[in-house]
Amino acid sequence: THCKGVNDLDKVVLREVRGSSVEVYLYGGHVTSWKDEHGDELLFVSNKAIFKPPKAIRGGIPICFPQFSNFGNLEQHGFARNRFWTIDTDPPPFPVPTTNTAYVDLILKPTEEDLKIWPHSFEYRLRVALSPGGDLMLTSRIRNTNADGKSFSFTFAYHTYFKISDISEVRVEGLETLDYLDNLQDRARFTEQGDAIVFESELDRIYLGTPSKIAIIDHEKKRTFVVRKGGLPDAVVWNPWDKKAKAMPDFGDDEYKRMVCVEAATIEKPVTLKPGEEWTGKLELSAVPSSYYSGQ
Ligand code: BG6
Repeated sequence: THCKGVNDLDKVVLREVRGSSVEVYLYGGHVTSWKDEHGDELLFVSNKAIFKPPKAIRGGIPICFPQFSNFGNLEQHGFARNRFWTIDTDPPPFPVPTTNTAYVDLILKPTEEDLKIWPHSFEYRLRVALSPGGDLMLTSRIRNTNADGKSFSFTFAYHTYFKISDISEVRVEGLETLDYLDNLQDRARFTEQGDAIVFESELDRIYLGTPSKIAIIDHEKKRTFVVRKGGLPDAVVWNPWDKKAKAMPDFGDDEYKRMVCVEAATIEKPVTLKPGEEWTGKLELSAVPSSYYSGQ
């Protein structure tokens, strides 16, 4: 269904017969809700989120494109997250099977104004899909449509905010022994020493060359989020903790306890596309009872 969300912004709601659902705002091509079959929300959105341009919605899955963070001259995290996307009524065939899967196709193309700040013509197609089992799948296909023969490069992240019960009880598995850049220490490079990531203070790291599967284990809820990704070698892990939380106007002072960002990304090695070339970046999220999760 296509309907109106907060502040009259257009949104699309996907529903599966077993009860799971997903909401996507055209503003930002932004997933703001993913509920399991019991109606439990799995993504974090701040109570103070501002659903109004030019601010990106705080929570859900902001799309960082064509720049992650401040790795370049564009605004923080690029402009895709605060542009109005449209529904792609005539998408080219996607290579993914879509049987029994609810989905919506969105598209973003640069405006004249966008071309002034990033002089590259592109077509960004985003498919948001919900499987019968309640898995959420995002597929991004970005094509260089430059007519001037020029290549372009970009960095990218699915800036996913997971809803968790207590940050002190959460572990992130799958990033052990990897190198990371620490955003809190001038992006100096370190090697992860722990057997899982746990949270005791602000954490803001870019893990490099990560496996295609990462797990977020919420002990209190006995729930494990499994993140699977394709075309996205890096993973950002972020929790602002109390001080940074207080400094963010669109984030509650205590909300850091209930969220963690694990972001499938490509940052260290930007993607370069020649005219006519296309890149695909995939994210697949599932939420399973921790007892089902074997870590394999
Ligand atoms: C994370 C970055 O991805 O996004 C953090 O690693 C940043 O450094 C955070 O603070 C939030 O960014 P923003 O622009 O949405 O406030």
